[in-house]
Amino acid sequence: MDKIIILDFGSQYSHLICRRIRELSVYAELVPYNISLQEIKQLDPRGIIFSGGPSSVYNKDAPVPQNEIFDMQLPLLGICYGHQLIVDNFGGKIKQANKEYGSSNLIIDDDTNLLRQMNADSIRAWMSHGDQAEQIPKDFDIIAHTASSEAAAIANHKKSIYGIQFHPEVVHTEQGTKILENFALNICQAKPQWTMKKFVENAIQDIAAKVGDKNVLCGVSGGIDSTVAALLIHKAVGDKLKCVFVDNGLLRLDEESQVKDMFQDNFAVNFTAIDAKDHFLAKLCGVTDPEQKRKVVGEEFIQIFTEFAKKNGPFTWLAQGTLYPDVIESGVSKGPADVIKSHHNVGGLPDWLDLQILEPLRELYKDEVREIAKILGVPNKLLMRHPFPGPGLSVRIIGEVTPKKLEICKVASKIVEDELLQQGVYDKVWQAYAAVGDDKAVGVVGDGRRYGNIVTIRVVDSIDAMTADWTRLPHKTLERISNRITNEIDDVTWVSYVISSKPPATIEPQ
Ligand code: XMP
Repeated sequence: MDKIIILDFGSQYSHLICRRIRELSVYAELVPYNISLQEIKQLDPRGIIFSGGPSSVYNKDAPVPQNEIFDMQLPLLGICYGHQLIVDNFGGKIKQANKEYGSSNLIIDDDTNLLRQMNADSIRAWMSHGDQAEQIPKDFDIIAHTASSEAAAIANHKKSIYGIQFHPEVVHTEQGTKILENFALNICQAKPQWTMKKFVENAIQDIAAKVGDKNVLCGVSGGIDSTVAALLIHKAVGDKLKCVFVDNGLLRLDEESQVKDMFQDNFAVNFTAIDAKDHFLAKLCGVTDPEQKRKVVGEEFIQIFTEFAKKNGPFTWLAQGTLYPDVIESGVSKGPADVIKSHHNVGGLPDWLDLQILEPLRELYKDEVREIAKILGVPNKLLMRHPFPGPGLSVRIIGEVTPKKLEICKVASKIVEDELLQQGVYDKVWQAYAAVGDDKAVGVVGDGRRYGNIVTIRVVDSIDAMTADWTRLPHKTLERISNRITNEIDDVTWVSYVISSKPPATIEPQ
């Protein structure tokens, strides 16, 4: 399949370039900037993009790609820092300039090749740079400029090498996608072969060839990633796949029966539900420290998995619903980041089980997984369900997890979800739930005093959970949620709403 590779020089938008190219149905991969020539040859791309980055090319330790890349005779597009690398490499000069952030008017001087069919003499282009080209290399022409950047876009048409000072991948650049399309489809001549239907066909073949007649173990949570991974593998190897769903008692209201029904009614996969509610709750008894709770839940999962594998194996493969952003994050991480929370996903199984990891979604973004889910017939309700943490409600219950607090948490969260669904807001927010702790407040019910729990509502907007802002829900909606919670749950007297963004807060309370 034709592909474009993007060398990542550290811009926060590198990912977006990859996504935009894939939206053109051309396969794109983000690779480290110092990828070897050998690896590039193996990938066999139709063209290369250099991303932006925070460095300056004239700094001693500035990241540079393998020098031979410039002689590979492949179309090349440099964006921002990538543009400056091209200027520098071919003998031009980069200087420190006035910072240019935000939208600029880009005047098009040459409307062929990269800037063809723009149907405009100028466009709004989004800039974010402190350096610019003072002198462009010979054999290059200026193809667009702004009031402060003489060489905002340059081209060596003969060699198909282009440099642009602005970011076509962000939505603030008018016709940015057209520029990427001109590069990928016209200049690189990449065929638009990346469709999810095709992906499904190829993935099924690949999985079947890889797994052969061996058995695959897959933990499913009812979430979209593990469900789609399981369905793809099932299409490839049928009953050699065994799915395990662990009901840990920490799920949303009625979620355990919903997950069971979904698998049993819709999919013919080999599915085992393990009721481990009492087990988990017993282990969590007396545990109040947030990290300790996560550890207990993680260890219990592993133990249940190990027992299942012992009884139902032997298994050769362990399937996981890892997505592309996780792969990239672990691949380019520069060092051990602070552990804010130890996220639990099934992993860390004992070595003696000797399982190989099968990750059929590791090339995909979330929206691509959603598209595949539709192709595979996953019910719409699941597609739209908010993300839910692996350790479940144990991280939404502050202090010890008790049956009473669990019940409050489940019912109050259901009320929040129902109200947002009714207002048509549920699909617009990232997450919405209720949390409960041991804090109590006095209420008055009828003529009597009641000393009940405080329930805390958290509703956030986010695009990737890395940052989040609290949702400005209408007062009317908050009022309805609050009234329903205090009316319908006897033990609750007060309802509060979280107005902290991430950072400094996190999305989950623990
Ligand atoms: P925080 O609380 O760190 O959460 O801002 C960010 C996102 O991750 C989800 N989350 C988890 N997901 N295992 C998961 O698979 C976990 O242990 C876990 N903890 C938090 C959280 O719901 C939010 O979407």
